[in-house]
Amino acid sequence: MRVVSGIQPTGKPHLGNYLGAIVNYVKLQDEAVAAGGECFIFLADLHALSMPHDPAELSEATREMVATLVACGVDPGKTVLFNQAQVPAHAELQWLLNGTARMGWLNRMTQWKDKAGKNREGQSVALFTYPVLQAADVLLYQATHVPVGEDQKQHLELARDIAQKFNNDFCPEDAPLFTLPDPYIPPAAARIMSLRDGTAKMSKSDMSDMSRINLVDDADTIMKKVKKAKTDPEPLPSEEKGLEDRPEARNLVGIYGALTGRSTAEVLAELGGEGFGAFKPKLGEALVETLAPINTRFRELKADQEALDAILARGAAQARERGVPTLDAAYRALGLVRG
Ligand code: TYM
Repeated sequence: MRVVSGIQPTGKPHLGNYLGAIVNYVKLQDEAVAAGGECFIFLADLHALSMPHDPAELSEATREMVATLVACGVDPGKTVLFNQAQVPAHAELQWLLNGTARMGWLNRMTQWKDKAGKNREGQSVALFTYPVLQAADVLLYQATHVPVGEDQKQHLELARDIAQKFNNDFCPEDAPLFTLPDPYIPPAAARIMSLRDGTAKMSKSDMSDMSRINLVDDADTIMKKVKKAKTDPEPLPSEEKGLEDRPEARNLVGIYGALTGRSTAEVLAELGGEGFGAFKPKLGEALVETLAPINTRFRELKADQEALDAILARGAAQARERGVPTLDAAYRALGLVRG
């Protein structure tokens, strides 16, 4: 079992990142250790170059993201925790895979279409080729499980297509180089939506801070955001089909279920008939209960920058070593002479 996943150190990590991905980094890290496998979690700082960015903010956000991940339970003693910029093999393997990836495949990526909008000509090349770097990220370590939210599913399918084509084109049939990675997506929290609009994803880049719960929000801010979250006038239904066409209600019930370890159906069986006036304080309290200890730990960790840099340096050294066999094999398979 090889677990590999990444998170961009841009903006503040939020509840969608936590419930959609980080919770599963921690779960799979423990499963990997128990099964004698390995877990690699990295900060996708090279991916951050695909959008306009401020260099000083990126450095700061990188350190904050390490502190956040450790505060959430990613354990550098069990997981190889590092940032891409310290492991050149990611960018190297991306270049090797650029020869295999097809323009048509990248053109079909919905995230590219959404982010580029009508102004494709004005986008960075990195925004277009970013999914090939993402494929390199996971293929380098022969990932079997990739914990991600729903929005990354298509990128993982592309990674499989690239791996398969490379194996077919350059490897003997009985000795494929790359393992085909499987996404690991949580059933209830695959796509946490904005608190202001139940049809838009909760996102670091949303202009409104009221649209998301940041992992570093304090209790008062969380309660205020939940109180102001958009809802409709109806009480909660007692069955799931009653949530059809009620995206905001569905989202809040889903969040409550994910936080309390229950399915949407179980939450509705208990709380059906309740109005939002009664439900929202319960949701707020469940959020505070989960996030307050993370917040405290984050602040302690963040105060010691040297320790955070040491975690990244140690993880990077391990990652550099682990990536060597696959990278070497990829160069060899392509017929590149390296002495
Ligand atoms: P990023 O930084 O946008 O998000 C990090 C993780 O959080 C998940 N996520 C969500 N899950 C549920 N609901 C939401 N509203 C929500 N918003 C974000 C994402 O699905 C992701 O798992 N390209 C990736 C980073 C990356 C990566 C990789 C991931 C780079 N290389 C290799 C996996 C494997 C990204 O920008 O995620």
